[in-house]
Amino acid sequence: MLTVSSLQKSFATDQGRLNVIDDVSFDVPEGQCYALLGPSGCGKTTTLRCVAGLEEPDSGRIEIAGRVVYDSALGINVPTHQRPIGIVFQSYAIWPHMDVFENVAYPLRVARPRIPKAEIEQRVMDVLALVGMKDVARRPAPRLSGGQQQRVALARAIVRRPALLLLDEPLSNLDAMLREQMRKELADLIARIGVTALFVTHDQAEALSLAARVAVMHKGKIAQEGAPRDIYSQPRNVFVAEFLGASNILDGRIISSDGAQALVEVGAGQRLRAKTPLPAGSAIKLLLRPERLSVSLHKPVDDSLRAQVSSVGFTGPTVDCSLTLDGAPIRVVAPADTPIKAGDEVWLTPLDRNGMVLAA
Ligand SMILES: Nc1ncnc2c1ncn2[C@@H]1O[C@H](COP(=O)(O)OP(=O)(O)O)[C@@H](O)[C@H]1O
Ligand SMILES: [Mg+2]
Repeated sequence: MLTVSSLQKSFATDQGRLNVIDDVSFDVPEGQCYALLGPSGCGKTTTLRCVAGLEEPDSGRIEIAGRVVYDSALGINVPTHQRPIGIVFQSYAIWPHMDVFENVAYPLRVARPRIPKAEIEQRVMDVLALVGMKDVARRPAPRLSGGQQQRVALARAIVRRPALLLLDEPLSNLDAMLREQMRKELADLIARIGVTALFVTHDQAEALSLAARVAVMHKGKIAQEGAPRDIYSQPRNVFVAEFLGASNILDGRIISSDGAQALVEVGAGQRLRAKTPLPAGSAIKLLLRPERLSVSLHKPVDDSLRAQVSSVGFTGPTVDCSLTLDGAPIRVVAPADTPIKAGDEVWLTPLDRNGMVLAA
């Protein structure tokens, strides 16, 4: 439904041309929700604006629903209003002088060829029902809560039944509680209407929970792309590992390897097994996720790592423990009933041996 190929975009700045998108390519199949995830300034919004036709790329190719909307080589650049898209921006930009109904009806009223009045009425009410706003159809826009404005913006974006829905940080204006609720509503709605969606966020939990596939962006490039579980459990590099969640990352070295399983040395000569294709002698980074380590007072397996507990913070469902491993700080999130306290000598064991070894 969306194919972006070799997209390139730079801006003129005081320091010369700034490369903002550098050779970005990805595909979004019909009905899928795809997330561009990355820190502020990595090029997410610019990518989305290029897809929308609000920004002209330097080069590359963009295809929406089987139609080329941009191709630098062929000189094609279809204007925004002729692209089959709906957009929800970070600021909802719903019109304050209109009520809910008119906000949503607007894209239909300006559509050419003209849509009959009765059909507009029907389609607006249908889409308002879909987002749970039918009862407030005649409420003035300024009297809506943040969550309601969000729904109106969404309704307005989908009322023309676009082939592709583009969402730029759609939940970032909401407070934390509402954001969680709207995230679930949005996931539910996208699934129900089966729309293809490209959405942009800096919030890893949002991307991982909403999207079928996620592209992690870093400095204008896609650092890694994949299903949420795969990129979380098997990050390709330190940037992706750290951006997707709290991590312990230790310097290490591969002592020996059979090509699939390796013996890794970390700290002051402690050793553990890990799965990696990297050869013996490689300097590596060892990724130990805080919630993927078991803590025990007795050594459970021959390659558990010895560590000292500095502090134990009770959070309710878990304990958040600070430890040191041969002087390096390590964080572990363990079940609340884990019987450890500050000063204990403990053993840490990874719950699985995949995805721990990152190229240094
Ligand atoms: N119109 C513009 N002119 C110059 N620089 C821009 C323009 N738009 C965006 N940028 C720069 O491009 C980079 C990427 O911006 P953006 O795509 O908005 O990032 P994100 O959405 O990931 O936060 C930033 O460094 C930003 O300052
Ligand atoms: Mg942005």
